[in-house]
Amino acid sequence: MATIISVILLASALLFTFSQAQTATASIDCPAPQPTKPLNTTTPVFGFIPPYNGTGPTLLRFGCHQLVIDRIDPLVNAGQIPSPHQHQIVGGNAFSSSMPYTDISRKASCTTCGYSDDFSNYWTSDLYFRARNGSYKRVSQLPGRYNFNDTFPSAIHGGMVVYYVSDGRGLNSAFKPGFRMFMGDAALRAPPVSPDLSTQNCFRCFSSPDFGGDLFAPCQDDRVDTMFLPPRFCYGLRSNIVFPTCWDGASLDSADHKSHVAYPEEGPAKFVGSKTGVKCPASHPVKIPQLMVEIIWDTTPFNDPDLWPEDGTQPFVLSNGDRTGYSQHADYVFGWKGDALQRGMDAGCRGARCPGMKTQTVEKAARCHVREMVKERHEGWLDTLPGNPAQPPGCGGPVQPHY
Ligand SMILES: *[C@@H]1O[C@H](CO)[C@@H](O)[C@H](O)[C@H]1NC(C)=O
Ligand SMILES: *[C@@H]1O[C@H](CO)[C@@H](O)[C@H](O)[C@H]1NC(C)=O
Ligand SMILES: *[C@@H]1O[C@H](CO)[C@@H](O)[C@H](O)[C@H]1NC(C)=O
Ligand SMILES: *[C@@H]1O[C@H](CO)[C@@H](O)[C@H](O)[C@H]1NC(C)=O
Repeated sequence: MATIISVILLASALLFTFSQAQTATASIDCPAPQPTKPLNTTTPVFGFIPPYNGTGPTLLRFGCHQLVIDRIDPLVNAGQIPSPHQHQIVGGNAFSSSMPYTDISRKASCTTCGYSDDFSNYWTSDLYFRARNGSYKRVSQLPGRYNFNDTFPSAIHGGMVVYYVSDGRGLNSAFKPGFRMFMGDAALRAPPVSPDLSTQNCFRCFSSPDFGGDLFAPCQDDRVDTMFLPPRFCYGLRSNIVFPTCWDGASLDSADHKSHVAYPEEGPAKFVGSKTGVKCPASHPVKIPQLMVEIIWDTTPFNDPDLWPEDGTQPFVLSNGDRTGYSQHADYVFGWKGDALQRGMDAGCRGARCPGMKTQTVEKAARCHVREMVKERHEGWLDTLPGNPAQPPGCGGPVQPHY
């Protein structure tokens, strides 16, 4: 009898410990849901940018096809094959599991980008749909929006649209060969506390087909922009990631790949297409171009209430196992040839054409590829995310009405 009781006691103690542990991991300090803020921006999408006149700020905007989908990360997990989670990569074909701190434009022979002297690499997480039965499917990508009379971004296969902004001639220093940086925090599952990065990293939920609701600059329209994956149907979901605009003037990289760059003294510079912030801090005195990447996923095949979770949460998960979206991040390895980027930054150009800067056709760019290093399936229905990363709980967004 005593033995039976102690077994029962032991079992319930174990059960108690187990449920405690469950609660401990499940409880995370989530901020109270905020009501949607009134629109407070005066920066319409591109309508504000004066046409090219050879002076003033530069806004380069160009498309890059997908180079490869692979589970490597030469920045955060250099040399590791496979790395913990999967990425979607664009740019030059010198991309590899580790990349030297040298001029990679000399190691690359092609690029997937419209400006053909840009052998840089840019990469972000992929997005997966998680079905009720626990299977996953990679969400396919959509091309970019037509703008600046440029048909390239609307013809990209997967890939991204890339933006570089300078304040004007001589006001921003292009990156140095070997330079790299990271924006975001792959471990975040709740809103970042400080600084407020809501204008730097967000998802835009298109409210109708053909980029509906895309009226204002990225991450500046609270009606359609959130830092979390929105718990409502979207007609395509866009992720914009804006990198910091100040540099310490010396380091090509840093241990966390972030601390050699910083935000201006007045806070992270919003993407307005013509300014990169007012004053850089003394620790990071050099103004660098404002870099932004943009990736769009076609979420429309999943706009079906019968496919979404029954508990009102949303079904998408980033390839690092993040169901909240707060951990969206992007990586950059500079690789423009010679002084091509500096010339562009000083030229006052807008869009995908700039005197003296080489471009290539969308067909030629699409022929540039690198071979996948990690051979694993990422299309069709999968039993786990590639690499099966943990999916710790986090703070989702409030359920908002669809409009
Ligand atoms: C709108 O933004 C401006 C500038 O950022 C700020 O001064 C103003 O207080 C804001 N207005 C509202 C209603 O939030
Ligand atoms: C060119 O455009 C800039 C604004 O982008 C403006 O400040 C400048 O006055 C213009 N110059 C000429 C010659 O029109
Ligand atoms: C899981 O659900 C999806 C979506 O309903 C379906 O297409 C797929 O075939 C299912 N997979 C399995 C293994 O049942
Ligand atoms: C697009 O082309 C039209 C006609 O050639 C021209 O008037 C317009 O200024 C161009 N727009 C841009 C943003 O370059």
